[in-house]
Parts: sequence; C-alpha cells; structure tokens
Amino acid sequence: MDGYESVDTTSRSGTGARVYFSTDRDIDLYELEELCDAVGWSRRPLRKVKKAIQYSFLVVTMWEMRGKKRRLIGFSRATSDHAFNATIWDVVVHPDFQGKGLGKALMNYSIKRLRSQDISNITLFADPHVVNFYRNLGFMPDPEGIKGMFWYPNR
Ligand SMILES: CC(C)(COP(=O)(O)OP(=O)(O)OC[C@H]1O[C@@H](n2cnc3c(N)ncnc32)[C@H](O)[C@@H]1OP(=O)(O)O)[C@@H](O)C(=O)NCCC(=O)NCCS
Repeated sequence: MDGYESVDTTSRSGTGARVYFSTDRDIDLYELEELCDAVGWSRRPLRKVKKAIQYSFLVVTMWEMRGKKRRLIGFSRATSDHAFNATIWDVVVHPDFQGKGLGKALMNYSIKRLRSQDISNITLFADPHVVNFYRNLGFMPDPEGIKGMFWYPNR
C-alpha cells in the first residue's frame, strides 16, 4: 500500500487485522482528537494541533487496516532543528490496542525515521507513569544529572 509501512509481523493488532505506519500528515484532526480523548488527554484547539502537525519534523500515525477500512490507533510526532536534535511529543496508542507491543513499535519506528535523517540526540518529556516504558526503549532520565526545565506563564 503506497505511503504505508507494515508493522513487524509480531505486532499485529491481535484482532486479525494488520497494523501499518504512515508519515503522511494529511490527518483527520477529529479522528486524532478522538484518539487523544480515548486516553483522557485534555482537548487542544484544533487550529493549534493543525499548526503543530504542519511544523513538526516528523509525524507518525499508526493504523489498523481491515479490508479498505482504516482506523487511527496510534500517533507520535517530533520537532527538530533538522541537524542534531529532535524531541518526541504526543505519543499515544488507543486503549483497545495497548499492551500488545504497538507502543514500542511506534517508538522504534519514530526513532528509526529520526536516525535515518542523521538526528543523534533524541529527547522527550515522559509523564511519571510512563518513565519505565521509555526507559525500556533506551531513554535515560537525567543523563549526567541534566534536568529538563520548564517556564510557564503566570507562575
Ligand atoms: C504509553 C503507551 C504509548 C504504551 O503503549 P503500549 O502499546 O501499551 O505499550 P507496549 O505494549 O508496546 O509496551 C512495550 C513495553 O513497555 C511496557 N509498558 C507499557 N506501558 C508501560 C507503562 N505505563 N509503564 C511501564 N512500562 C510500560 C510493556 O510492559 C512492554 O514491556 P515488554 O517489552 O517488557 O513486554 C500507551 O500506554 C499510551 O498511549 N498511554 C496513554 C498516553 C500516554 O501516557 N502517552 C505517553 C505520554 S508521555
């Protein structure tokens, strides 16, 4: 199928359907919102989500395919300086498909795409409950004591 890459055969959806990745940015924002709703994320203005996707360096979607029907079941994106660094954001797998190795496959695919662009420094901000998910994938919290620091308005 053009524009789609099949997930490793060990990472099927568990329902007899196949799972594919795509880096096509032509995403139905309502479908993406539904996916983010399903994991309880707060809603964000769609015009901003659209802009974030437009200006991301890499956008990866994960699809369950049944015949001609496709369903968005995972998403991640990365911003980058296009030379050294990339930061991964918005990693999500639909709850119906969690615990089947698809989050790992989504992350490994995203990392592979960034490495293929010669990006060597890949970072992300992990919610506390998923630190070990990322640790298993080779991400280190606070390497050499380095801390992520945040500035928020009105604090
Ligand atoms: C985090 C998330 C992407 C993981 O996706 P998933 O498809 O369930 O993960 P996988 O099945 O690929 O799990 C891969 C490995 O990580 C482990 N793992 C999965 N979720 C984990 C968690 N929350 N904490 C620790 N380990 C976890 C699995 O046990 C598995 O281990 P194994 O390789 O030893 O078998 C998914 O749970 C999700 O979308 N959560 C809601 C959104 C979210 O919190 N995103 C991260 C924001 S920073």
